[in-house]
Amino acid sequence: MKSVKIYNRFERFWHWMQAALIIFLAMTGLEIHGSFTFFGYEQAVRYHSTAAVFLMILIVFAIFWHFTTGNWKQYLPTFENLRAQIDFYLTGIFRGAAHPVKRDVLSKLNPIQRLVYLGLKILVIPIMVSSGLLYMYYRYPQREGMVGIGIFELKSVAVLHTLGAYILIAFIITHLYLITTGQTVGSNLKAMITGWEDIEDDDDKVYNPKTTEIEVKADETTTN
Ligand code: HEM
Repeated sequence: MKSVKIYNRFERFWHWMQAALIIFLAMTGLEIHGSFTFFGYEQAVRYHSTAAVFLMILIVFAIFWHFTTGNWKQYLPTFENLRAQIDFYLTGIFRGAAHPVKRDVLSKLNPIQRLVYLGLKILVIPIMVSSGLLYMYYRYPQREGMVGIGIFELKSVAVLHTLGAYILIAFIITHLYLITTGQTVGSNLKAMITGWEDIEDDDDKVYNPKTTEIEVKADETTTN
């Protein structure tokens, strides 16, 4: 076993802040939607707007951090080991198979995470922010001129924003399950809290996608 630093301080702050804000936005948003009453409608709108402003500020800092540190490259999609990762989540995990992709500071995300997080970053979050802002600055007297093209009707904005909210809630639920699927049940959570993860010291081992097992590398000096 060796301890590897996976997440730095900003990354952990950004992750937990984002999680808290999105969960709070989902709760207040669903109250605005009419799913339940907790704060009361007006208060829920006020809290939702305040949390949205904090989220947008956080997004600006996160974009800056991703580009200045080169961490945006973590999200470049890859098809290498994608099939192996899908097999792992569908079946391997229930047989105690080895993780097909080992994490380190240069590659923190497995191929599925790369695709899903990229989708959130370039699609879902921008849709939530832009539909949220359209919602926030919607001016009723001006709406008549825009109704003709449909997309700026408040109803379309609300439907898009609500759809995005459901996608994010589904993501959070799946994410909670996937947190438990690291090397041990608590290792992913521990890494995101402390920054460090214990991983097996197995430089001499390789993943065999056919057997989904970790195998010891053949020693080149003795194979011929
Ligand atoms: C920067 C991001 C966001 C902004 C600017 C924003 C803004 C708004 C605004 C202005 C409203 C309407 C409030 C009213 O009726 O007066 C709203 C509603 C809502 N928001 Fe957000 N929001 C954002 C992010 C989110 C996120 C991340 C979620 C959920 C995960 C969410 C879920 C909802 C829901 C479910 C509604 C109710 C939609 C309806 O039934 O019409 N929002 N948002």
